[in-house]
Amino acid sequence: MKGGVGLSVPGKKPVIAIDGPAGAGKSTAAMALAKALGFLYVDTGAMYRALTLAALRRRVSPHDGDALESLAGEVRIETVYRQADDPPYRVLVDGEDVTEDIRRPEVSGVVSQVSAHPSVRKRMTQIQRAMALRGGVVMEGRDVGTVVYPEADVKFFITASAGERARRRHRELVKKGIMVTLREVEEDINRRDCLDSTRTTAPLRRAPDALLVDTTGISPEEVVRRLLEAVEMALGKVATPSAESIPSPEGGGKDENPL
Ligand code: DC
Repeated sequence: MKGGVGLSVPGKKPVIAIDGPAGAGKSTAAMALAKALGFLYVDTGAMYRALTLAALRRRVSPHDGDALESLAGEVRIETVYRQADDPPYRVLVDGEDVTEDIRRPEVSGVVSQVSAHPSVRKRMTQIQRAMALRGGVVMEGRDVGTVVYPEADVKFFITASAGERARRRHRELVKKGIMVTLREVEEDINRRDCLDSTRTTAPLRRAPDALLVDTTGISPEEVVRRLLEAVEMALGKVATPSAESIPSPEGGGKDENPL
């Protein structure tokens, strides 16, 4: 680890869990936080998307849990992390780079069905947990702080108003050349949020010890600054060069929820 944030367990680097609904600004914040801390960034949603893409290509039904479980055992899903790149990781399925393809509406349309199967989640959770065990990780998703790694050193639950989440996701997609209407994005986000929060296994919910961050009307830079401050408070040390360059906040965070 570059710099060095305080370690809650001697010899083991911290694990930071970031969960929340679609379009809340989790990825931007998690990537920037990982970069500032010199940690590995893991996007668990990208892994579910990669499996979904593989299922679509092989015509495996998103409702067939057994077939999806077999598929998850057959395909090799890799996330290759390169901090200098933007985004700082590539997603590979059996060696093919699918980083852009997994963001397509066809995948977004069924990923919540695929990820709702307990057998699929069990497999993905094992892989994700193994990645977190080494520490020095910022892991984002829906159930990182509750199921994948409940013992995470710092947990955040990032959210924003439904309208803002849809607008942000719409802007991102259009920037990537994926032409969808704001209305379609709103519908997709609402549908996925509903499925993700009501599924039986590992539903989207805030861990009781997760810090709630509402990013509505807040710039990405400000969000990252607040997260870094919270990490430093939680881990009891300020040591990374990037963290030191961030101005201290006004107010001082004495509320029940410091963010
Ligand atoms: O973060 P995202 O929107 O790319 O995630 C895509 C889908 O994957 C999301 O709708 C729900 C699912 N997912 C999940 O079930 N558990 C996770 N830890 C991450 C994502």
